[in-house]
Amino acid sequence: MSLHSFSSESLPFSHSVRGSLCWQSPSNIALIKYWGKFGVQLPKNPSLSFTLSKAYSQTSIAYESKKETLAKHQFFFEGKENPVFGKKVMRFLIDLDSVFPFLKELDLRIESKNSFPHSAGVASSASSMSALALALCNLEQEVIGSLQDEIDFYTKASYVARLGSGSASRSVYGGFSIWGEFIELIESSNEFAVPFSYEVHPLFMQLRDSILIVDSKEKSVSSRAGHALMNGHPYAEARLAQSKQNMSWLLAALQQGDTDRFIEVVENEAMSLHALMMSSKPWYTLMHPNTLRILEKIRAFREKTGLFLCFTLDAGPNVHLLFSEENEIEIQQFIQNELEEFCDGAKIIHDKMGFGPQKIEQ
Ligand code: PMV
Repeated sequence: MSLHSFSSESLPFSHSVRGSLCWQSPSNIALIKYWGKFGVQLPKNPSLSFTLSKAYSQTSIAYESKKETLAKHQFFFEGKENPVFGKKVMRFLIDLDSVFPFLKELDLRIESKNSFPHSAGVASSASSMSALALALCNLEQEVIGSLQDEIDFYTKASYVARLGSGSASRSVYGGFSIWGEFIELIESSNEFAVPFSYEVHPLFMQLRDSILIVDSKEKSVSSRAGHALMNGHPYAEARLAQSKQNMSWLLAALQQGDTDRFIEVVENEAMSLHALMMSSKPWYTLMHPNTLRILEKIRAFREKTGLFLCFTLDAGPNVHLLFSEENEIEIQQFIQNELEEFCDGAKIIHDKMGFGPQKIEQ
């Protein structure tokens, strides 16, 4: 799909339309971290993530031909009209005018909800923006009749999700996906994510992610502000080189089943992300003392048992403990015995790699 074709045809409709649709889309966890952007939400470095399954958003759109000159767009979050989220979504829809010109011809009622509580400490922008993007592309299919080709549909959904939140671009696919140009993958792009199309070793196909909630409060510095601090960051160039090298190593490890390399790269990425925050001007840190206690415990347990487990961190204090299905029993025991005490109210979300978004039949 060429870039200009992201814009759909305009209306006016010769007929009136009415209907509703709903999409469910999961969150994702990055193994190679996107940090820093340029232009319109374009990434300064390539990133790779896997899509989760239990942490998801559902977005439904009820639509009909507008009744007045100006179309009426309403937004409800978890059943209530939500002015804060609503404003953000409305702004987003206005910015999407060239991508979905038909939106101004329709009255819309958009409803969104998450499978996890707002205070769970799980970032909801990837799941909510990808669910909204998928629902909007499905709406284009229904009212315009375009995007019938599956690849075109998901490419545009990823492009639109990216405009809402960079990491959301990767959530439109199940399994592993990649966003950002990377020379070893000709299909990769800064504009949208692509699924990782090579065969992945079975060890990495059943990944578990137990999210240890160290603090469920809203983070003190937003990702938006964090990305901005990469402009003029003294390590920006080194970060780009590091992310490319780590990407290359990780892609090989995923195919070869190299768990040592996987652990080395994934933990290096997590610590580098937080090191970039600490070396920004002004500096900040999102890790808590209990984050570091958990990381030390994970390393000690891995050294003692030789099991395959490692951690990654998002832009926040919570720890994503990654392991494979075959060690599930030992690792759940370890979590209970040694890690739970460092979590906020013993809160843990046991998630795993998922198959990606789905349309919900209503
Ligand atoms: O998509 P944003 O703007 O919320 O940024 C996400 C950045 C990280 O979660 C830290 C890394 C990533 O690649 O998901």
